[in-house]
Amino acid sequence: MVYDILSSHEVSRPLRDGQERVLILSDTGCRPGWIPDFRVLADKLRRSPKVDFENIAAVIFNGDTVFTGSERNYRRARRVIEQEFPGVHRLFNIGNHELGIPWPGRMRETVDRRVQRYQKFFHSPLNWRKVIGGVQYIGLDSSHKRLAPGTLEYLDESLSMHPSNVVLIHIPPMLRPQWRGRTLFSSDTLGFLQILDRHPGRVIACTYGHIHCNDRLVRNGVVHQLAGTGGAMSMVRSHSHYGEASGSYAAILIDPGMRGAQRVSLITSHAQRPRAKAKAKEAANVRIAVSMGV
Ligand SMILES: [Fe+2]
Repeated sequence: MVYDILSSHEVSRPLRDGQERVLILSDTGCRPGWIPDFRVLADKLRRSPKVDFENIAAVIFNGDTVFTGSERNYRRARRVIEQEFPGVHRLFNIGNHELGIPWPGRMRETVDRRVQRYQKFFHSPLNWRKVIGGVQYIGLDSSHKRLAPGTLEYLDESLSMHPSNVVLIHIPPMLRPQWRGRTLFSSDTLGFLQILDRHPGRVIACTYGHIHCNDRLVRNGVVHQLAGTGGAMSMVRSHSHYGEASGSYAAILIDPGMRGAQRVSLITSHAQRPRAKAKAKEAANVRIAVSMGV
């Protein structure tokens, strides 16, 4: 069966039978110097037997795919993503950095202008849904650090339309004390959870980014997977029970062919980028030289 990816999204090849798995990355370009880190993760994903990249139906970017939101930033992000994920459908969900970061001269730019730029480069509505491989993916707008008006109604309507869903929000709801200060407001969190509870058995997973770490919990049978390390490396201060090492990168793999929580897995990379490796070696050599009294 060939699934129709939203016509305004980038479409580079038709889907084949059995192509039903989807990769989700977040915070790909969310800081200066992101490109080498993103390339490390992309390389790992392309080579991973678990991912089986040739048979991936789509890669979805769950926000903060850019850092400043400038034209140049968007152009570069799109080019790097095209280079790293050739021949695969690419979809985008909006994050807070898509609306830019404040700096002198840019504050005068209206929000509308910034949204237009996002849509010009990533061709995506602010709230969207798309069925891929028998699963409906629902992207929700949290670009203003809270759910935009009408978003919860859109989620409710979308969940009524399809029996198997994955929800993508860039900024996570307040589900863990460790996430405090970097989540949606509690009123948004409450409203969001109430909608989920209204549709038991229909949501496979909710996926988030924004916080540069990886974390996971299961609530009422729904996996809530945070993976804000799709280019930005994980931060020590955000470590949770997940037990990851600092400096790792990750993407979420949705595999509808698996059962239960196994359908949602994290593909991680601990590979250091070449420059960082060289620097570490250099530092080690210096230490050896010092200890030898050279
Ligand atoms: Fe963010």
